[in-house]
Amino acid sequence: MLNSAVYIVGAGPGDPDLLTIKAKKILDQADVILYANSLVPKQILKDVRSDAELIPTGSKTLEDIIPLMIERVRNNKSVVRLHSGDLTLYSAIHEQMQALAEAQIPVQLVPGIGAFQDAAAKLGVELTVPGLVQSIILTRISGRASSVPEAEELASLAAHKASLALYLAARHVESAQAKLLEHYPPDTPVAICYRLGWEDEKIRVVPLSEMAKISREEDLIRTTMYLVSPALAGKQVEARSQLYHPQHSHLFRQGKVV
Ligand SMILES: C[S@@+](CC[C@H](N)C(=O)[O-])C[C@H]1O[C@@H](n2cnc3c(N)ncnc32)[C@H](O)[C@@H]1O
Repeated sequence: MLNSAVYIVGAGPGDPDLLTIKAKKILDQADVILYANSLVPKQILKDVRSDAELIPTGSKTLEDIIPLMIERVRNNKSVVRLHSGDLTLYSAIHEQMQALAEAQIPVQLVPGIGAFQDAAAKLGVELTVPGLVQSIILTRISGRASSVPEAEELASLAAHKASLALYLAARHVESAQAKLLEHYPPDTPVAICYRLGWEDEKIRVVPLSEMAKISREEDLIRTTMYLVSPALAGKQVEARSQLYHPQHSHLFRQGKVV
């Protein structure tokens, strides 16, 4: 039985099997579900209660959404606010939480699997390969709705040559490619990940120098994330961590002396 509260839930990238157990339990019991319909596919809602009130939010403003949530909770309803992927990334939940706190509405957050994690699993790669790359940058391109602070400009992040997941960039893919090329070699593999977990999912691994051309040619524009990483070179990468090396000692295992 859920409380009269707002549960802000990460839905994962699109595959219902990638909902967390906690997210699924809450979703399937909720009285009211507000969902970002441009980013959350209908299949995520397949097991919700037949009498649940479903409210798509794609055409609504914050000023429409907040009073809806407040009114339902004050009428003793459990409300799910469903966002795609994980909540920590570009979910615009900060302003929703502030408004709900002002109205003294209880809120609980439930994390989800992010698109970059689904992409790495489907590509069969670790994004932190020892001796090759040990950091992951999650970033975006400035858009009409939000601008990226100057200190986080894509070209300066590219200088780290880390594994980099680039969100909200497909409409500006030419300039994104040019900024990445300031530091990554042109043959760095890029996975163009279109609608992961949706029925029309496409993943193309291409050299960085062709990222824009292939995106445009194959019309991989809406709901696309780019994963740029030397780790995507797959079998060509030879590396091993010390963690499971026979000569490495740690708290739970004495390494062999040779
Ligand atoms: C508003 S952001 C939301 C990100 C979301 N919170 C997450 O963790 O994936 C939307 C952007 O995330 C990326 N994205 C979200 N879901 C995706 C999916 N299923 N496949 C590919 N990219 C996705 C795309 O870059 C899209 O433009």
